[in-house]
Amino acid sequence: MARLDATEMFHGILYPGHLHTQDSLQLAVKFQFQDTDVLIVSFPKSGTTWMQEIVGLISSRGDPHLSQTVPNWTRAPWLEHIYLAEMLNASPSTLRVLTTHLPSHLLGPALQGSKTKVIYVSRNPKDVVVSFYHFHQFTNFLPEPGSFSEFLNQFLEGEQHYGSWFEHINGWMGQEAALNLLHVTFEEMSMDLPGTVDRVSSFLQRPLLEDERNSCVQHCSFSSMKDNKMCNYSLVPDEIVNHSKGSFMRKGKIGDWRNMFTKQQNQYFDGVFNSKMKDCSLEFVWEEE
Ligand code: A3P
Repeated sequence: MARLDATEMFHGILYPGHLHTQDSLQLAVKFQFQDTDVLIVSFPKSGTTWMQEIVGLISSRGDPHLSQTVPNWTRAPWLEHIYLAEMLNASPSTLRVLTTHLPSHLLGPALQGSKTKVIYVSRNPKDVVVSFYHFHQFTNFLPEPGSFSEFLNQFLEGEQHYGSWFEHINGWMGQEAALNLLHVTFEEMSMDLPGTVDRVSSFLQRPLLEDERNSCVQHCSFSSMKDNKMCNYSLVPDEIVNHSKGSFMRKGKIGDWRNMFTKQQNQYFDGVFNSKMKDCSLEFVWEEE
């Protein structure tokens, strides 16, 4: 399958060209947020799609109708994509939910002073890089990933599409006090999905009854989402993703990095991580507990 080579460089960061243009990126960084908006922010492969489902199901009080009939990119459109306006017009949701991978130094100014509810989703970066590696094999709009070793080096140097994981998390966490921001981790969703649904529903000021909350939990489990074509990306045409090479809902596990990293790669990773994260007080969960 031919790769879609178009790439857009914006403020030194590469973005896939079939979804981004200079105009769409400019519109994103100048977006007029409303206080009632919900903005899901993440580095790729951190649990973005999972949070889109959680927020959608909370907003429908656990009713899965919209999440099973409308694609996630219409329910929670990407701020920086060329389709934003079209998707916003088509979105049937009563709550305006947006999604972005942009770093805080680009999007922070548009959010200053607003009460927009920002949900920052993070994941331990060893699992992010492994998931990202498989994603590069699965999609046709990202470069061939080469060997895992090369890929890991590029990830640690921040040379890949969407920029540096380190800058992304440090930048957004640095904005935590200035914004109306809830930080949720992939590992928390994994280990305590009902507790995560409670935290998010309380942040969104949408309290749920027990059966509504149970319905949210049921419909955003890995198995439900894997079978839901409105969020498992099976509707995306073959020119864009290579369905024969895997699936978007791949494993959904904590600690899959152990199946990819050699001992040396792990030591190298830890060295870079400790130096780039020395001012960060976050605790990461690296293994299933
Ligand atoms: P893996 O590739 O490790 O399986 P994003 O939406 O940010 O691109 O993240 C995709 C990752 O989240 C994939 O990780 C995917 O399987 C995982 N994921 C999505 N929904 C999930 C769920 N309900 N439970 C567990 N993992 C989920």
